[in-house]
Amino acid sequence: MKFFIDSANVEEIQKAVDLGLADGVTTNPTLLAKEKGTPEEIYKAICQIVDGPVCAEAISLDADEIIAESMNLAKIHDNIVIKIPATKDGLMAVNTLEKEGIKTNVTLIFSAMQALAAAKAGASYICPFVGRLDDTGQNGMELVEQILQIYENYGFTTEIVVASIRSIGHVQTAALIGAHIATIPYAIIEKLIKHPLTDAGIQSFLKDWEKISK
Ligand code: G3P
Repeated sequence: MKFFIDSANVEEIQKAVDLGLADGVTTNPTLLAKEKGTPEEIYKAICQIVDGPVCAEAISLDADEIIAESMNLAKIHDNIVIKIPATKDGLMAVNTLEKEGIKTNVTLIFSAMQALAAAKAGASYICPFVGRLDDTGQNGMELVEQILQIYENYGFTTEIVVASIRSIGHVQTAALIGAHIATIPYAIIEKLIKHPLTDAGIQSFLKDWEKISK
């Protein structure tokens, strides 16, 4: 299973890289808006520290404009993958860009049929937003299970990037059902590592170490 970090913050990304837990990065306009610098400057900085896909979102809505914007973004670095929303124009752009050798990640996926259409259009990755589906009373991880089943039925190679992760439970379920990738906010990456029994165990071992004659 691959871990991407869902962040545009270079310090957080560096920490995830140092932990060996960043196989790639996803960004979006909301994450970029929290940082200083232009999107291009931020993508360049991220590409210098991460050896893997770095997803940069196209904000155009018309197919030709998405293609033009994506071509420019792709010039920034070989590892740039273009995030494109799951719309009709979006999929037209995905189809063209993938044929041109530019990798795409279809984002804002909320149904199995959007995921199937994205794979047929040739997307390298898709991002189902599990947390936002949970917010509506649906079960985001059930959608991921359905997409995995459909992709397996037909041998699609599109990789599922579980996105909008809000808890370590989301990551655990993604791992149990075999999702290819989870894109995880840094705060949740830290929570994954932590356990109160580990901390308590260290404290009691240190206490007992003091009793040993050295
Ligand atoms: O990768 C998508 C993610 O950034 C969206 O998360 O929490 O805004 O639904 P959230």
